[in-house]
Amino acid sequence: MSIKYTENEIKKYLKQNLPPGKYRHTLGVTAMSLDLAKRYGVDLKKAVLAGLLHDAGKDLNRSKKYFKYIKLDPFEKKIRPLWHNKLGAVIAVKVFGVKDKAVLSAIRKHSTADNNMSALDKIIYIADSAEKNRKFKGVDGIRRAAKKDLTLGFVAALAKKINYVLEGGKTIHPKSISAWNRYIR
Ligand SMILES: [Fe+2]
Ligand SMILES: [Fe+2]
Repeated sequence: MSIKYTENEIKKYLKQNLPPGKYRHTLGVTAMSLDLAKRYGVDLKKAVLAGLLHDAGKDLNRSKKYFKYIKLDPFEKKIRPLWHNKLGAVIAVKVFGVKDKAVLSAIRKHSTADNNMSALDKIIYIADSAEKNRKFKGVDGIRRAAKKDLTLGFVAALAKKINYVLEGGKTIHPKSISAWNRYIR
């Protein structure tokens, strides 16, 4: 995989384009993704790149100019917090010239998941949920599960997310449900 930007250049962009808390979260996700990639034999560069860029589209105001490149499904249209997934992948392509399909997939799937998760997809999903700045009850359980088994960690993170959405009385994206039904054992 070749990428014309260094890690530091990407970080500089993110620092300028994300709120400070989101930038800190991004560094946490990147660090945890790298750890998990080492543990599970996943390409380290891809893990770092996907970790860094997963929330690149998070600031919807700043990402406005990329709206025209994404097509939201009917559920995504109703769930604003999901817009940044596809936006992040567009920014990875347009701003940083990322062509790697595995990296773009992990960025796109990092909040809904789906019924076909690669090891890298699972890593980014878990790290997004359980990086070191996350404090919610049960986060340690996700971290422990992820050390034992990648799919176990993914399912633990997915369960937490689905519960959270349910408790908030919000719409669950069908991809999250199909991920659950595929990976629960
Ligand atoms: Fe995100
Ligand atoms: Fe995130």
